[in-house]
Amino acid sequence: MKISIIYSSITGNTKLIASAIKDALSDKNIVYFGPVGNDLPEADIYIIGSWTDKGNGSKEVINLLKTMKNKKIAYFGTAGYKKDKEYYATLFSRIKDNVDSSNEILGYFYCQGKMPIAVRERYVNLLKENPDDANLEVSVKNFDETLNHPDDKDILDAKKWVKDIIKGC
Ligand SMILES: Cc1cc2nc3c(=O)[nH]c(=O)nc-3n(C[C@H](O)[C@H](O)[C@H](O)COP(=O)(O)O)c2cc1C
Repeated sequence: MKISIIYSSITGNTKLIASAIKDALSDKNIVYFGPVGNDLPEADIYIIGSWTDKGNGSKEVINLLKTMKNKKIAYFGTAGYKKDKEYYATLFSRIKDNVDSSNEILGYFYCQGKMPIAVRERYVNLLKENPDDANLEVSVKNFDETLNHPDDKDILDAKKWVKDIIKGC
């Protein structure tokens, strides 16, 4: 069973989860591990991950998914805005919209991923202008909660998730 692990990561969070997934599958035949490339490596299972960009996957991952037909795909993502099962389900439903129905989706996994400090600074500046904006306060609080992620538990969860996925194949 040939496995390809393909990811899109700007600041390293998703790459960290990708590496954890690779470690969890060290006894398997991983034929590709790396960022989205020009060609789709030949494999039986594709484990594809992305950071979240404006409520969706990165453009390169979305474009990759759109090209895939008759493949087995497991998806993992990191997201900064909030930790919430429903939020993750919504994010994944947008990813799924780009997956042709000839493919088999094996499952998905999300965890939080810290964001650049400039994002916090923007919220704080906006709060100065709009001190009563409760949403902005929530955003700052969430930013701070996300700072340590992906953490050890996220990594363990990702490893468990992928092992379960592969066990079922
Ligand atoms: C331009 C930009 C847009 C983002 N949009 C979202 C978003 O819509 N939802 C979300 O939950 N996180 C969003 N984030 C947070 C990132 O998805 C998150 O920090 C992720 O873990 C980054 O992954 P990476 O380190 O692999 O690049 C955004 C971050 C940036 C920089």
